[in-house]
Order: sequence, then C-alpha cells, then structure tokens
Amino acid sequence: MKKKLLSFLLATTMVATLATGCGEAATADTGADEPAATTEETTEETTTASGDQTVGIAMPTQSLERWNRDGSYLKEQFESKGYAVELTYSDNKIDQQVKDIEGLIADDVDLLVIAAIDGESLSQVLADAKDANIPVISYDRLIMNTDAVSYYVSFDNYTVGKLQGEFVEKQLDLANAGDKTYNIEFTAGDPADNNAGFFFNGAYDVLKKYIDAGTLVVKSGQTDFDKVATKNWATDEALKRMQNILASYYGDGKTKLDVALCSNDSTALGVTQAIESDYWGDVKDVIITGQDGDVANLANLVDGKQTMTVYKAVANEAVATLDLGIALLNGETPDEGLISAAGWNFDCAYDTESYDNNVAKIPSYLLVPTVVTKDNLEKELVDTGYYTLDANGYPQATN
Ligand code: GAL
Repeated sequence: MKKKLLSFLLATTMVATLATGCGEAATADTGADEPAATTEETTEETTTASGDQTVGIAMPTQSLERWNRDGSYLKEQFESKGYAVELTYSDNKIDQQVKDIEGLIADDVDLLVIAAIDGESLSQVLADAKDANIPVISYDRLIMNTDAVSYYVSFDNYTVGKLQGEFVEKQLDLANAGDKTYNIEFTAGDPADNNAGFFFNGAYDVLKKYIDAGTLVVKSGQTDFDKVATKNWATDEALKRMQNILASYYGDGKTKLDVALCSNDSTALGVTQAIESDYWGDVKDVIITGQDGDVANLANLVDGKQTMTVYKAVANEAVATLDLGIALLNGETPDEGLISAAGWNFDCAYDTESYDNNVAKIPSYLLVPTVVTKDNLEKELVDTGYYTLDANGYPQATN
C-alpha cells in the first residue's frame, strides 16, 4: 500500500499490458517437500514499474496436488509483472496458516491472495490485514465471517457438482431407467472448505429425483453432507470410509455398486483403492467421478478405473487473479468490466449474488469447469498444453 505515485505509474503500464491481454500460461516446477514460508523476489529492471510491491500468497498444502500448481502459477504470473512474491504452504494445518498469514502481514505485503484451509478460521488475522489496508482476494475457496475480503476468484463450484451428477444421469440413462435400479454411494469433501457443500449439492440436486423415485439406491443410507464428508479431502479417510461401506452393504458378493460419486480426485483415489481391494466386482464396472485432474487419477482414467474428472484450468484461475490483483493494487474497484478489459482467452462470469460469506455477498469471478474422460483427455488436457503424455500414454502435468 505504498507510493500512490508508483501505483499511478503502474496503472499506466498495466493499462498498456491489459490492452495486449495479460497472463500467459506458465510452465513452472512444483516443490516436492513441504517448505516453510518461502520468500523470493525478482530483481529485474521490469520490477521498477511496480518497484517494491509484494504479493503474499497463502496456499493450504502441498499434499493435495493441485495447490502446487496454483502456487507456482500465481507466483509466476505476479513475478512476470514485476511483483515480488511471498508464497506459503501451511501443511493443511489451520493454526499454521494463521501464523503464515500473520507473517505476510508483518512483512508488509501489499496484497493477500488466500486459499483457506478452514474458511471460518481467518476472521481475526484478516482483521489485522484490513487494519493494515491490505486488500484480500479469497482464492478458490470463500473465506467466511470477515469484511476484509474484497473479491473471490474461483470456478463455478456448484456447476462442478452438477456436471458430475449429469454425467451419472447420462451414463446410466436414468431418465429412461423404467424399473431398473442402480446402487450409488457418495463421498464429499472437507466440511471446513466452503466449496465442498457446493460440489455435493450440485451433484445431489441432479440425482435426488432418482433417489426419491427409487431408481438410485444408497445402500448405506448416507445422503447428508455431514455423513459423506471427508476431513481434509484426505485419500486415506475416503479409503477407510468406503471400505466400511463395502463391508457393511456390499459384502455379500452379489449386491452391485454401480456408482461412487466422489467430489474430487484425492477422495476418488481412496475410493478406487477401496473398491479394488474390498469389492467383489470389477472396479471398471463402477462409475467413479472426480475433480482436479490429479496425475494418479488421470492414469486411472486411462486404465478405465476412474470414469471422469472435472478439470479446472488453474493456470487461468491464476491469470484472473493476477489481473484482479493488479487492479486492486492500483486502488481500483473492478467489476465485470475487468473481464472484457483483460481480454482473457477463457470464459469467466462476474457474480455478485451466489457467494455470501455471512458478512456480505462477495463479488466473484467464476471460471468454467470441464468434464474430462478417457475419450476427450488428449483434446482437453494435452492439446491445451496443461499435460503431456509419457511413453506409456499417461498424462504428466506440465506445471
Ligand atoms: C477444493 C478445490 C478442489 C479440490 C479440493 C481439495 O476447494 O476447489 O479443486 O482441490 O479443494 O484440494
């Protein structure tokens, strides 16, 4: 929040850049181990434009694959425009993330970009950010119960779930099932993640009518979000729960499991492992859904074990966050105009109604998710440059 003159300079530079379309797709490495807070600054001349403005980026963990990509895409995008970046990963530990954000505030960053581990745990530390006049972008997951968040960037989370539900509906032709019935089990995400409810409701709202009609049967009876949620989106939690369900309701060697609707890939991986090890039938006969395009899950897609994943191009989520961040650092109050001005080569909606964090409806930039199956994987993931195929035909992320 320094040097008004400087941000004016920046503004002129940026407008020039916007006119030419911002945010190139990035190729960056992903860190293997769980680093402590890392601070890296660029020193090139190009930094003079934004000089010593620093962006603090707080990611949940590196143990869930996508956040490695988010962190490095965001870092690369902001550094490419001359900003210094402090990037933290908090090992999915809520207290650690609060400490990391306190550290970023103490380092006097000019902007905070935060993907919260627990959307309800940051009110206090963000009050400090507000006192320090640091604008906060809620990244991918909405941060609740605070007036310090000015904007939200994510994908259309409800549509992610809706695409999973509609995929099952189409695969089984449920609308024309007649008196056929199918067995389904649900696995949702972390209750502390505001997205998890949107994903689950998006899918359940499509399939509810078939469950009510008896066409879809949930043998475990577990249809409430709290019952099917998975703490920390943890693969081993999802594995254990599905093993219990298989033993209790599908252990007779004849009760068929037709669908395992999982909200994301880390949970789908555990559920797939449980089905492979504990289910009498063939995992390839079970429709398994996912989200994120994790490498292990894409290999399962190629091998026919997982049936679909909802891919979200986080490279574009980083681009949208960059342009929003620049506007905020310029002291602007962007609205839908940012989308047309930025000239992004991806779709994005401006939504001021759907995301209420209990203090206000947060203006949101929502990107569009894509269904990926074995059949369109190459077109959607490889031809776009997000993944390459290794010698065995398995997708490897380029970031
Ligand atoms: C959600 C995110 C998903 C998934 C999940 C677990 O908030 O939107 O893409 O990755 O967290 O990390």
